[in-house]
Amino acid sequence: MKILFVGDVVGRAGRKILEERLPEIQQEHEIEFTIANVENAAGGFGVTPSVGEKILGYGVDVMTSGNHIWDKKEVFGYFDQQPRLLRPGNYPPGGPGQYQFVGEARSGVLVAVVNLQGRVFMPIIDCPFQFAEREIPKLAKQASAIVVDFHAEATSEKVAFGWFMNGKVSAVIGTHTHIPTADARVLPEGTAYISDVGMTGSYESVIGMEVDSSLSRFLTGLPSHFKPATEEPCLSSVILDIDESDGSARSIRRLSVS
Ligand SMILES: [Fe+2]
Ligand SMILES: [Fe+2]
Repeated sequence: MKILFVGDVVGRAGRKILEERLPEIQQEHEIEFTIANVENAAGGFGVTPSVGEKILGYGVDVMTSGNHIWDKKEVFGYFDQQPRLLRPGNYPPGGPGQYQFVGEARSGVLVAVVNLQGRVFMPIIDCPFQFAEREIPKLAKQASAIVVDFHAEATSEKVAFGWFMNGKVSAVIGTHTHIPTADARVLPEGTAYISDVGMTGSYESVIGMEVDSSLSRFLTGLPSHFKPATEEPCLSSVILDIDESDGSARSIRRLSVS
């Protein structure tokens, strides 16, 4: 079974290339299930109900997110209506939203998607390792494949989490930095891993935002207004090939489309 994971969709440029290119990618690579991280989909910060519904309409099965999920206040009510939108599970208990969704691939195979967030150079939340250890075994009984979006900054924490999940899930896919890494591989116990998929948005930018406004923040140390960039759009993704008989990954392959 082939699963497509699309990295952080940033603003209009990211949404546009997703809409334009997703159908042909799905057809060409016989994709049965599609996941996209949407934490930056609405103007670069967060997601709104209308943007979320559009993205699902493009052919995405489950939307994951990260630290930016809280940026648009409309999202708080949207969680109640849309179970296919996830937020990291290891925020302290009591907040809105769900961290996992079990969906059906085209063939009817059940796929669990889980969203967690790292803590190194990130907001201080509960431990993702302990959370995963507690919750992942429950999901293993419900689905043939488990894909984890591990949304984190530090490659050390990401790769450590990959090893922690080795043999326990089908894939640990890193998001958040918006910069693709070249370390896609299948770990020895059958867990596909990549530190970061990279973003789906403008690459003539600083991680999706206009170069001038980002530069000014570094040059002056003063706050500046970030606007999503539009030039050189690129869709960054990975294609997972999962053996549904035991949930292990046969392969993980990067796919960038511009
Ligand atoms: Fe992001
Ligand atoms: Fe993020």
